[in-house]
Amino acid sequence: MPKIFVTRKIPEAGIKKLKSAGYEVEVNPADKVLAKDELVSVLKTGKYDAVLALLTDKLDADVFEVAKGSVKIFANMAVGFDNVDVEASKKAGIMVSNTPGVLTDTVAEHTFALMLAIAHRISEADRFARAGQFKGWEPMMLLGTDFSYKTVGILGLGRIGSRVAHHAAKGFNAHVIYYDVKRNLDFEAEFQAEFRPTIEEILKEADFVSIHVPLLPSTYHLINAERLRMMKPTAYLVNTSRGPVIDEKALAEALKAKIIKGAAIDVFEHEPAIHPDLLDLDNVILTPHIASATEETRAKMAELAAENIIVALSGKEPPNLIK
Ligand code: GLV
Repeated sequence: MPKIFVTRKIPEAGIKKLKSAGYEVEVNPADKVLAKDELVSVLKTGKYDAVLALLTDKLDADVFEVAKGSVKIFANMAVGFDNVDVEASKKAGIMVSNTPGVLTDTVAEHTFALMLAIAHRISEADRFARAGQFKGWEPMMLLGTDFSYKTVGILGLGRIGSRVAHHAAKGFNAHVIYYDVKRNLDFEAEFQAEFRPTIEEILKEADFVSIHVPLLPSTYHLINAERLRMMKPTAYLVNTSRGPVIDEKALAEALKAKIIKGAAIDVFEHEPAIHPDLLDLDNVILTPHIASATEETRAKMAELAAENIIVALSGKEPPNLIK
């Protein structure tokens, strides 16, 4: 009977799916990230045919080297796969898959939750109310910024970026501008969106900038001090992609110096650490990498990772193979 190793406790739906395919499933009994040497020792046993892994597992050449010969597939329960050395997996002849699609709506919703929360000063107002500072309605109290009819700049027009653009255009009459390595004329026609050939143009024009690029060497510190200075002082920056896309120290400095109006971020450069200067600022909202964290979506992600394993172990190409 094929054996599957799951690197940490995940929604039961994924485990159930693997078990009903007739596999023996072993879950890391400690509900914490497996250190690399722990993962290597697990794999050295040679007992496992597949691994269901998480974005917190660093799947590098050493890991693939020990997994070679037993493990056929590492199914990453995430859409992002910057934790995986894809070249090393190919060299070892091991498949790797991700979970695109099932989390698009949820991440787009979270992006909107952040975008509206920073514009309407929700966290700040909540802290104010809890501190007993609400002494009665005031005409000038906690004034925020409208989102409707503003210009929204999307960096990265993949599934999630497109969904955010959809909500902005259709739900809030926003003017969508976007930057991507590929232009999408159908998208432009559907949302009256406009392409900008450089990131700089987006930064100069947008009232809200939302980041949806994968983490690659070319997107590392895509937003740095210089680019933050190009944004309008009234603009907001939202990031639900990957932390290292923003130079977090530069962001903290820009927020402190009011170079931009605010930011709302779900991902951090050195997770789980958060730049300490961000913690003291009122013009930033911080959520701990939870953009896809709903009951429904995490269950779907677990099931899709399981599906990739089942298809791969049946000798076929898994639906979300990373090529
Ligand atoms: C979450 O960050 C994911 O990539 O799925």
